[in-house]
Amino acid sequence: MPISDAELQILIEKIALDHNWDLNAYKWPTLKRRIKARMVEKKCETPEKYYALIDSDPEEYKNLINALTVNYTQWFRDDSVWDLILDIMTKQAHDKSEVRIWSAGCATGEEAYSLAILAYKIKNFYSKKGHKVDFIIHATDVDEICIKAAREGVYEIANVNISEEEIDHYFNRKGSKLAIKPEYKEMVTFSRLDLAKDHYPAKLDLILCRNVMIYFTKELQKIIFENFYYSMKKGAYLVTGKTEVMPVKTNSLFEIVDLEDRIFKKVN
Ligand SMILES: C[S@@+](CC[C@H](N)C(=O)[O-])C[C@H]1O[C@@H](n2cnc3c(N)ncnc32)[C@H](O)[C@@H]1O
Repeated sequence: MPISDAELQILIEKIALDHNWDLNAYKWPTLKRRIKARMVEKKCETPEKYYALIDSDPEEYKNLINALTVNYTQWFRDDSVWDLILDIMTKQAHDKSEVRIWSAGCATGEEAYSLAILAYKIKNFYSKKGHKVDFIIHATDVDEICIKAAREGVYEIANVNISEEEIDHYFNRKGSKLAIKPEYKEMVTFSRLDLAKDHYPAKLDLILCRNVMIYFTKELQKIIFENFYYSMKKGAYLVTGKTEVMPVKTNSLFEIVDLEDRIFKKVN
């Protein structure tokens, strides 16, 4: 049975109340498809039955929230872009004492710690030349469960998609798990932030917001890109997901640095 707009609205209001998360400006067909998949899994024929189920079963409510947020991520996701990110961070650190970076929509922290691994290398490189530079990395997500996992920084070996040699550089082994080393962990601050309504960090040199915008309507995307613009310093960079397209109404705010890897620079 299809989910009507009125039925979806009921769920959106419930999630806003329980989780302080406003799904109104997400693409409704996508939301409906994800809810429908949970209904099929739990053998609920109507939205009414499914909503009754999530009222009485916190575990299923959690599964639904997970299905809606889509937390899939990877270490150094999309290899080629990370060489460019390393170049940008190195150039920015050259004449600054502090480089401020934001991983917006960080899921379970892999993207933010990938940034910390690069930052640590750059910091040491400049330190040997007598130049001290600090990297401040903010990492945020709307999903509190993700943020909690990211703060712990402990990952299943099977989910860490880097070489054995790199694993021993960046992690301490803990049985079948890997704990990110303290020197990387301490470079990142994790917090919950809803891109649709919360205040953004300020004076940023680099923003990564990858594979997040695809879930939002064009109107919300436009607002978010404008907010990014105002939270960035002169000459700062923005990296989006490889399949994401910047709304036409905001593309005058950013110049293209690399279209293939979706790297943009703030137009001042
Ligand atoms: C597919 S993951 C992308 C993770 C990482 N950026 C990457 O590219 O691998 C999308 C993330 O966006 C988060 N997200 C969805 N809506 C959000 C919102 N309104 N504000 C902040 N984060 C949001 C989800 O919780 C999820 O963790």
